[in-house]
Amino acid sequence: MLLVLGVVLAVIGQGLGGYVQAKNEARDEASAVTPSGQFKGIMDVTRRGRQFESYRGIRYAEPPVGNLMFQPPKLMVKYDGVVNATAEGPYCPQPTEPGTYVDEDCLTINVHTPVKSARSKPLPVIVYMHSGGFYAGSGRSDIAGPHYLLDRDVVLATINYRLGSLGFLSTGDELAPGNNGFKDQVAALRWVRDNIAGFGGDPHSVTITGCSAGASSVMLHMISPMSEGLFHRAISMSWSPVDKAPLRSDMNDLAVKQARLLNCPTDSSKAIIDCLKTKSWKELGDSLDSFAEFAYDPIGIWLPIIEKDFGQERFLTMQPLDAIKEGKIHAVPYIISQTKDEFFWKAYTILENSTLTNQMNEEWDRVAPIAFMLPTTNRNNAVRQLKQAYLHDKPLTNSTESADGLGKLYGDSVIGFSVHRLANLMSRHSGQPVWYAEFDYTGNHSHYENPVTKKPTGAAHHDDLIYIFSLRAVFPDIGRDGPDAEMVDRMTALWYNMARYGDPNPRGDQPELKGVHWPRMTPQKRTYLSLDKTFSLRENLKEDRFQVWEKLYPISY
Ligand SMILES: *[C@@H]1O[C@H](CO)[C@@H](O)[C@H](O)[C@H]1NC(C)=O
Ligand SMILES: *[C@@H]1O[C@H](CO)[C@@H](O)[C@H](O)[C@H]1NC(C)=O
Ligand SMILES: *[C@@H]1O[C@H](CO)[C@@H](O)[C@H](O)[C@H]1NC(C)=O
Ligand SMILES: *[C@@H]1O[C@H](CO)[C@@H](O)[C@H](O)[C@H]1NC(C)=O
Repeated sequence: MLLVLGVVLAVIGQGLGGYVQAKNEARDEASAVTPSGQFKGIMDVTRRGRQFESYRGIRYAEPPVGNLMFQPPKLMVKYDGVVNATAEGPYCPQPTEPGTYVDEDCLTINVHTPVKSARSKPLPVIVYMHSGGFYAGSGRSDIAGPHYLLDRDVVLATINYRLGSLGFLSTGDELAPGNNGFKDQVAALRWVRDNIAGFGGDPHSVTITGCSAGASSVMLHMISPMSEGLFHRAISMSWSPVDKAPLRSDMNDLAVKQARLLNCPTDSSKAIIDCLKTKSWKELGDSLDSFAEFAYDPIGIWLPIIEKDFGQERFLTMQPLDAIKEGKIHAVPYIISQTKDEFFWKAYTILENSTLTNQMNEEWDRVAPIAFMLPTTNRNNAVRQLKQAYLHDKPLTNSTESADGLGKLYGDSVIGFSVHRLANLMSRHSGQPVWYAEFDYTGNHSHYENPVTKKPTGAAHHDDLIYIFSLRAVFPDIGRDGPDAEMVDRMTALWYNMARYGDPNPRGDQPELKGVHWPRMTPQKRTYLSLDKTFSLRENLKEDRFQVWEKLYPISY
């Protein structure tokens, strides 16, 4: 952990320069009052040396423990005494390095806001929902840090939500109707509605943002009856719930699998849940790796489900595809993006291991549906056609050619195609503007760096986050100068504009976006912005590659 908890200043040297040392006596200024309670935070400093107030680890819901385990969240409406929001909360249960702070009592929100004297009017609010496939990740400041965005006049809130079985267990009956992790997010949004004004935020200007699992979540809030009215603009980076097949209405198979992994009986939902409740959160969190079926695949395990009606408050009541086409959505101005290379690096995990390469070659029909998350319908045809389209029917070898084909197949199947579907559907039906982008930039760091050269080799899944959030658990902070720094300036400018105008385009006051004009995507002219060293307009993002998917899994747009 690079971030030392409880330290007032996270001043990381490393020659970046420019950090202004916040004065110790400023510490007491980080206090906020809302209808729910009083909060004491800390002072922190941005990349450009601006002080801000930082409130960390605030519980937005009752601890989901004991009788509340596997239950929907209970929103915190009143706090006793002054809430100590000076220290980071835990990660929700998931496999982690030894020494990491993990706990099931993890339903926390961090709120970062400019100092009071710098807030003359209520500021636009950005809520960030983290990535991690619904089984990993966190809104903690060491991986979703505020030090870049708080150079803008925004209030940033980052949240945790329950993960894996603890968040998404669904047996298809009233004992576990499912989607609790999404209901956690809704609780956090309700908390923002009720409390954010006390932190200087405008509850009538909330931009929900997310990457990967968070991106998919953002889209679902536009459909959920529970989320209506809680947000006003949206940004989804790299994933969507409108994919190759409709969403299911339970994940009973995963409940059974989880039960087996922890030696629980599986003869009824009640038996499963009663037994899982006796297991520790650590056993549940640590069992993640055993869900893999081939190497580390599939990447996607827990997914949103359409909830059956047992009288509970339901997060999802209809298919996203139908909701979008029938206009049953709370549409808002929307930025949708994917990265150029997404999960391309997964190819190396196969090709640099001869056992896995042989297995994929010899058992393609069995392994491909796992690795590429293919639905059961049309499966035999799909595995054949995908092999033809991406690998030209050649066996995989440890070569550049195989790496390129297999890397694109991973990227398109797991992420890219679902984003393509979402952008095309929303730009056609939502009635609100859609701006589409591809993140193409490769800088000093990436979530995939070549193990030999230690250099980035593409724009991987999550790499756009590097220029929006400080990620001190993983990468050093970006300074003020150089191409990476310029990327931070431009990415945060787009987000700031989206949050304040509902439109990412500059209005003449941002030299970092000079010359940028980003038109909306329309069904006829599918323009997107390439976010590279220079921003440029292009059309028909990866559409040649997506043709095979459209044929295999046809929908009418
Ligand atoms: C707030 O929490 C931090 C970290 O747990 C602790 O060091 C500090 O003493 C607490 N402050 C108060 C006033 O309780
Ligand atoms: C190759 O993959 C297999 C199966 O996942 C694993 O057991 C083995 O350790 C891997 N070999 C190397 C050299 O990483
Ligand atoms: C695959 O190729 C890479 C780069 O040429 C090499 O370092 C690695 O040892 C090879 N792995 C296997 C299993 O052949
Ligand atoms: C990479 O980091 C170094 C050291 O901080 C910096 O000088 C350089 O400009 C950075 N490169 C890019 C592409 O930003």
